[in-house]
Amino acid sequence: MPEIVLQGVTKRFGSVIAVDNLTARIRDREFFVVVGPTACGKTTLLRLLAGLIRPDQGQIYFDGVLMNDVPPQARGVRMVFQGQDYALYPHLEVYHPRRWSNLSFPLKLRRERPEGIQARVERVVRRLGIPASWFARRPHELSEGQKQRVALGRATVLTPKVFLLDEPLAHLDPPSRAQARAELRRLHAELGATTVYVTHDLAEAFLLGDRVAVMREGRFVQVGTPKEIRDHPADAFVAEFVRAYEEGLRQAFGP
Ligand SMILES: Nc1ncnc2c1ncn2[C@@H]1O[C@H](COP(=O)(O)OP(=O)(O)OP(=O)(O)O)[C@@H](O)[C@H]1O
Ligand SMILES: [Mg+2]
Repeated sequence: MPEIVLQGVTKRFGSVIAVDNLTARIRDREFFVVVGPTACGKTTLLRLLAGLIRPDQGQIYFDGVLMNDVPPQARGVRMVFQGQDYALYPHLEVYHPRRWSNLSFPLKLRRERPEGIQARVERVVRRLGIPASWFARRPHELSEGQKQRVALGRATVLTPKVFLLDEPLAHLDPPSRAQARAELRRLHAELGATTVYVTHDLAEAFLLGDRVAVMREGRFVQVGTPKEIRDHPADAFVAEFVRAYEEGLRQAFGP
């Protein structure tokens, strides 16, 4: 699925430079993790890739095709949004084969017939382990982990070419996170989508990423495999980030 290339991409909000002259190449089918502190521009980067906002400068290419003016629905991109509600539709139930519901929504938009909707949703609920007992519930009647699963389901009923995940595990307890990480890797392997995953947690980045980009103030300060970043931090900022992470491990497990 597509290779993503960013060339000198900049996005400003007034005087804030959220993404600053960013150049990067994300490989076909890669699980690419962007990690960095709050406000460094992670969500803005995903919104640029999704086409929800347009760069002020620079180019975004999918497989060599310029995407700057391609609308979100024509990009083959799906995004799982950050936050407590994952942008689920609060007034809609989890799934109903004929009515508008969270899982059927993207399919209803495409005017799929009920049989087609059912077939696709069945595949997704099986893949993600969403039991039928949740179908009639609305998002506020679900736990965080359950909502996250439904959000992943909604994002994958139409198989995405590019899959964007904005801190999807931030609200889960550690054992659920570990399980969800394993599921995400499996989902990635099944979908074969080029995946960009955003987190502020370096441990998560190291556990999930084929490659990791450390982001600071709108730029990537280092892109590499987890091992490259851990063993050869590119600058003092990355070194400190890695040191804090290792210190956490030492406090938990001893030297
Ligand atoms: N729509 C907007 N209008 C004005 N400023 C914005 C807007 N979106 C983002 N910003 C600013 O751009 C910068 C980057 O924001 P962004 O949401 O991309 O950060 P982030 O890395 O996702 O942070 P977090 O980890 O807290 O989610 C911040 O300074 C933010 O205040
Ligand atoms: Mg964010």
